[in-house]
Amino acid sequence: MNAQITDLSTSDLDPIALRSTLGEFATGVTVVTTLGDDKAPVGLAANSFTSVSLDPPLILWSLSLNAPSLSAFRSHHAFCVNILCHESKDLALQFARPSDDKFAGIDWEEGFGDTPVLNAASAVLECETIQRIPGGDHEIYLGQVRRFRKAEKPPLLFHNGKFLQAGDLL
Ligand SMILES: Cc1cc2nc3c(=O)[nH]c(=O)nc-3n(C[C@H](O)[C@H](O)[C@H](O)COP(=O)(O)O)c2cc1C
Repeated sequence: MNAQITDLSTSDLDPIALRSTLGEFATGVTVVTTLGDDKAPVGLAANSFTSVSLDPPLILWSLSLNAPSLSAFRSHHAFCVNILCHESKDLALQFARPSDDKFAGIDWEEGFGDTPVLNAASAVLECETIQRIPGGDHEIYLGQVRRFRKAEKPPLLFHNGKFLQAGDLL
């Protein structure tokens, strides 16, 4: 592989270079939601989501310890992973910055544990939080899937800090 190598045993961590290397991994985009302490809906854009196990049905995602929504995810026992479709770039951006009213203009209904299910999502995993695992400057949320639903829509993708639509299948 012809590439520049950073060896962390001999050089300091450059977070920008590491973030850019991690960004080579293309992902889908989700909005993870929960119920706030004041019973108001809470949610953020997240691409750290991945599947873990089919039996039992487990998934995970990670949340920054600096996120204003951290206390809501810590105190409520449930969350929803709303997988976004190719038409939802603006919706993703709405959930990617702190705001008191992220759900303005968003169509949603209550799912498992009264957590918000976004009607625009192409698939939804409604989960019970079964473990919170320390992960450096993030906290890893392991969820057991309690309900799930799926619509047939092309996905929204994220790669190198940019949103993409899926191209032709290989
Ligand atoms: C495509 C994309 C993926 C993101 N993934 C994550 C993630 O997995 N975990 C995380 O904590 N923040 C992630 N963020 C950043 C949060 O969405 C952003 O910090 C948001 O403001 C956090 O919500 P809050 O301010 O209400 O806590 C992502 C942002 C974008 C645009």
